Amino acid sequence: MSHEPLHFEHVPESDMQLRADAFLVMMRKRRSVRMFSDRAVPLGVLEAALQTAGTAPNGANLQPWHFSVVTDPSVKRAIREAAEEEERVFYNNRAPQAWLDALAPLGTDAQKPFLEVAPCLIGVFAQPHGIGPAGETIKHYYVQESVGIATGFLIAALHQAGLATLTHTPSPMAFLNTIMRRPAHERAFLLLVVGYPAENATVPMISKKPLTDITSFI
Ligand SMILES: Cc1cc2nc3c(=O)[nH]c(=O)nc-3n(C[C@H](O)[C@H](O)[C@H](O)COP(=O)(O)O)c2cc1C
Repeated sequence: MSHEPLHFEHVPESDMQLRADAFLVMMRKRRSVRMFSDRAVPLGVLEAALQTAGTAPNGANLQPWHFSVVTDPSVKRAIREAAEEEERVFYNNRAPQAWLDALAPLGTDAQKPFLEVAPCLIGVFAQPHGIGPAGETIKHYYVQESVGIATGFLIAALHQAGLATLTHTPSPMAFLNTIMRRPAHERAFLLLVVGYPAENATVPMISKKPLTDITSFI
């Protein structure tokens, strides 16, 4: 493998804290939005954010992901109908009481109007293996971790560009393969709802654990 020079940007120490603090302030403003406007989003912004997702570190650089972008209203409607069907079973039968209790403060239920109202849905698919040029199977490594990190990059990129997102995981999600026409070897990982918040949108009052609870310095 040939190597190339690393173009590392050395940030003066005096600026590092400012940059870290500014990023924290920006990321603290991100919230999962469940009330969307139908205002269309700029395609170029989506494309740049998806390219940012594609820069994520990942197992052996095999980049085991695919992002399926849906803006067609009829496809969004099909996704909403299939998701609500799964969600009704989830809320009425499948979800253990403890899970329902954990969801209760968020006020979520089987109705998912945002899947139709929001201008864009991004299906994130994980590839446990790839398919080589001769149809051979190529094993992928750390697929969950890699796709999770790429999705985090995508959410952060969309947020910093000025768009709202909801990380949505209708369970099970196999219907996304059918509707988004993805091959059987890909696994639907999650559905990212993207757009602008509805006017007067509200979000659940929640808090994040303080630094001392989520870290230890040794
Ligand atoms: C993997 C994952 C799955 C999620 N699934 C859903 C979902 O199906 N429906 C939903 O309304 N929110 C879902 N969420 C959003 C969480 O409820 C939300 O991130 C959490 O309550 C914290 O709120 P915040 O994103 O506004 O900080 C999911 C988040 C993650 C990371």
